[in-house]
Amino acid sequence: MCTSCNTVTHQPNDDASAEAFAEGLLDTVNQTSLAIMISVGHRTHLFDTLRGRGWVTSHELADAAKLNERYVREWLGAMATGHVVEIDATDGENRFRLPDAHAEVLARSGQSMGTMFQWFAVLGGVETRIVDAFKHGGGVPYDAFDRFHEVMAEESNLTVVSGLHEHIIPLVPGLADDLDRGIAVLDVGCGSGLAVCELARRFPRSHFTGYDLCEPAIIAARKTAQTLGLTNVEFAWRDVTDLATPDQIDLVTAFDVIHDQRDPAGVLAAIQRVLKPNATFLMQDLRASSHVADNVGHPLCPFLYTISTMHCMTVSLAQGGAGLGTVWGEQLAVQMLGEAGFENVKVNTLPHDIQNNWYVSSKPAKAAEPVAA
Ligand SMILES: C[S@@+](CC[C@H](N)C(=O)[O-])C[C@H]1O[C@@H](n2cnc3c(N)ncnc32)[C@H](O)[C@@H]1O
Repeated sequence: MCTSCNTVTHQPNDDASAEAFAEGLLDTVNQTSLAIMISVGHRTHLFDTLRGRGWVTSHELADAAKLNERYVREWLGAMATGHVVEIDATDGENRFRLPDAHAEVLARSGQSMGTMFQWFAVLGGVETRIVDAFKHGGGVPYDAFDRFHEVMAEESNLTVVSGLHEHIIPLVPGLADDLDRGIAVLDVGCGSGLAVCELARRFPRSHFTGYDLCEPAIIAARKTAQTLGLTNVEFAWRDVTDLATPDQIDLVTAFDVIHDQRDPAGVLAAIQRVLKPNATFLMQDLRASSHVADNVGHPLCPFLYTISTMHCMTVSLAQGGAGLGTVWGEQLAVQMLGEAGFENVKVNTLPHDIQNNWYVSSKPAKAAEPVAA
């Protein structure tokens, strides 16, 4: 620990042998392979099919899941040797079982952790373009990513929609009552709009607007709103950096959006502008330190820096932007909220969402007077 600047320094571990390190890397090869196969199991609903089924052969599982047996058998090989499923080969025929505890974590009726394993294939699809950006600069735009909005919507269901009423709305005192009475809400970077639609369904007297830069996300959001028969919500394909009309909105939300921005300071200023005096800005963003040395030992930081390099930072750089990155961190987030003029910044954590901080702040009642020369 450096006592003058309060940061942690990590020295290389000279005792670690090359053999031990290589052994660790082999484990990484196996775990990475397993990650891809867990994603496949999630997408093919194999974990959902295995849940509660007891011992099954590959043929029985393939029949139940309506999948090709040869692929299912090979997948079970990865799952059994990777200790995700158990194997019993005692009577000459291989049988497999997903333990209840594993089903609780992986199946959709449980924690649905299989959702996050889909990112590796999404990110892998742009690897060549990322390598090119390492050499020549620039970035990879949103439309280069296959299934990005689909996977993001699934993740939003887990970290935002599932916690809206029990955990997220109660972060702002009186917000549930205000939403019941009827207020104007704007969600910036709404993606496929699941959170906005859930709010609009629950609070019919409030009016909800969702803006997103990506047209496919807006098309998906409009479809969901239409399917649910919602009349108090509108979605538009637009850049939130240029929000201009002042003092219009009672609540702005930004779920996992600010660090992706081309101009994050500009977007925070725009949000400040459109809020009414005293109104609230609610921001979900990744929980980490702004200082990389402090993040050594963080349970998810290798994943977060990877997501950043392969998506969040690069989509910003692709627009000639700041490239803030997924791990901009709590200190910088609080600083930038302050610089944009937000007051009463509170940083919350929520039990259903271990990855993120939840920042609640407000626009001042009266705009600050310009400092006299
Ligand atoms: C990580 S995704 C989060 C989406 C959504 N909030 C959710 O939780 O599912 C970030 C979203 O912000 C959108 N976005 C990024 N910059 C934007 C901008 N300047 N204006 C509008 N949307 C933007 C992207 O298109 C993307 O859908």
